Amino acid sequence: SAPRPPFTSASPALHFEVLARCSTTRARVSRMTLPHGPVDTPTFMPVATQATMKSVTSAQLESIDPPINLHLANTFHMSQRPTAELLDIVGGVHRYAGFRRNLLTDSGGFQMVSLVKLSRVEEEGVLFANPYDPSKSSLLTPERSMQIQHSIGADIMMQLDDVVSSLTTGARMEEAMWRSIRWLDRCLAEHARSGKATTQNLFAIVQGGLDPILRDQCLVAMTSPERAIQIPGYAIGGLSGGEEKTVFWQIVKQCAAKLPEDKPRYCMGIGYGEDLLVCAALGVDLADCVYPTRTARFGVALTFNGPLNLRSKIYSEDFSVIDPECSCATCDKGEGMSRAALAALVVGKEAASASAVTVHNLTYQSALMHRAREAIMEDRFPQYLIDFFAGFFKSKD
Ligand code: GUN
Ligand code: ZN
Repeated sequence: SAPRPPFTSASPALHFEVLARCSTTRARVSRMTLPHGPVDTPTFMPVATQATMKSVTSAQLESIDPPINLHLANTFHMSQRPTAELLDIVGGVHRYAGFRRNLLTDSGGFQMVSLVKLSRVEEEGVLFANPYDPSKSSLLTPERSMQIQHSIGADIMMQLDDVVSSLTTGARMEEAMWRSIRWLDRCLAEHARSGKATTQNLFAIVQGGLDPILRDQCLVAMTSPERAIQIPGYAIGGLSGGEEKTVFWQIVKQCAAKLPEDKPRYCMGIGYGEDLLVCAALGVDLADCVYPTRTARFGVALTFNGPLNLRSKIYSEDFSVIDPECSCATCDKGEGMSRAALAALVVGKEAASASAVTVHNLTYQSALMHRAREAIMEDRFPQYLIDFFAGFFKSKD
């Protein structure tokens, strides 16, 4: 796997270099350099829905080892609080949250699916109803989404897309795909107009549901030379909505294979360890999900021997740490908090349990990807997958 020469993207704010390739799968290790420093991929991005992550501070996030250099936040939620106006005053989310790492923001389009009863899509944009005060309903247009993401100061901004459930078929899915292309063009125009293209990146999102023909049409349009020159990276969207795994993998494989070799590929909404590794094997570089942080708040600790549900009675007299090999502050290489102590906090619904398990789960997820990168670099990624899956199905609870 010969290293390729550095690739300088059309955006001066992103440099992408493929460092190694797996000789049997399509997995690769790359270094993506953004305004807040380098990010080694494949990597996992944890999700801070608002400007800050639930249960942990910016300082705790920055102390995680192996470090997590790219985080995700949501435009729609931040437009409600702290609001774009406030972010303009303080100078962006990095300053607001005291956060020094790279930040990727989702455009708000996905909230159409997650807050579907409160929203309606029109050609102009997404109309979000305010359930408490109808006069405060808001129209999120592609231009407005860009403006908010500019105020946030995200290193990577996502286009506004028309997102429908992955199980949708027929005319509505096709309409959403073509509209996402039109909205991409409006986002590109607004981004170019803003003068922020030297410090922030705009990624396109491939849509088309589970239909390979729609996906191909979207891929051709979004990678056309006149668009590609303005797009430093691509996402695969519209998945993880309850579809069969085999169909999901087929679409990821198709999209990853047809996206440009020399730009990062981001699979949206993916976060189970097993899915991260399969996506990496299909050529995906970035993924995000609330799973490790949300499940931590429910008392589930992730380990290389499968997840541990700390609410289970079996841990009340288990005095080992979650994982003695783990470098997180909770496990402290075997000297940290016992499973029994954590279980008591979880059962007592203590805030400290959410914080302790979140720090652990993020460290686990980061170690999983760090080890995957090492395995790809040493061209033993298939064995890494075999070992991961053997361990993953060991625990029975
Ligand atoms: N998060 C998960 N899937 C998607 C998607 O298709 N579009 C956007 N904008 N965000 C997502
Ligand atoms: Zn740990």
